Amino acid sequence: MSETEPTALVVVGHHRSDSLTAAVAERAAKRLAAGGYRVDVLDLHEAGFDPRGNTADEPDYGNRDKRYSEEVHEHIARVHAADVIVPVFPVWWYGLPALLKGWIDRVWNYGLAYGRSRSPMAGKRMLWIALAGLAEDDPNSALTRAFLDGPLRVGISAYCGIPDAAAVALYDSEAQGLAGAERDRHYRELFAKADEAVDALL
Ligand SMILES: Cc1cc2nc3c(=O)[nH]c(=O)nc-3n(C[C@H](O)[C@H](O)[C@H](O)COP(=O)(O)O)c2cc1C
Repeated sequence: MSETEPTALVVVGHHRSDSLTAAVAERAAKRLAAGGYRVDVLDLHEAGFDPRGNTADEPDYGNRDKRYSEEVHEHIARVHAADVIVPVFPVWWYGLPALLKGWIDRVWNYGLAYGRSRSPMAGKRMLWIALAGLAEDDPNSALTRAFLDGPLRVGISAYCGIPDAAAVALYDSEAQGLAGAERDRHYRELFAKADEAVDALL
């Protein structure tokens, strides 16, 4: 590994290794590697990450140097080592799946990700890649867009000192009503949209 090689952390927020989410994450990782990144893939389910809250990982707002669980410190070290962070996940109930939400809740903790005069995340970039079952023109997709732009891009990334954050949605991820060549074309388009978003990091 060269000293000058930037690092990308690809975070997989799905329990199935044969999911579309996993395929999109793998493709993003390969593209980042081909573009010169050292790539660290963090598959939260494979890693056995426990998204449940616990007392050891509760923030103590009187002590930004609190020592959290070993698991949290191991995970935040991987975040700190990254120049770009790329969470890939399905949209569930217009939000993050519990696995990824719990990772943010526990690992992006006070003193580790926010709460310092100089953000520990300063200078990083972020790309949220969301797979959404709804079609882009479904009226409820406005909720998905609001979720990406509000809680994810502003509420988490910018709040933690990462203003250079983008969020992209791959709509109609289950290709509802499509078959054969039409379905193949749809998935080619979804992968192309993910590629375009990843390429903006190169
Ligand atoms: C519990 C659950 C909640 C879901 N909620 C939403 C939702 O709010 N909006 C949406 O567009 N799709 C929703 N979906 C559809 C998923 O986004 C879709 O199944 C996923 O993107 C497919 O990718 P995968 O094969 O990687 O799971 C939901 C699916 C599940 C299982």
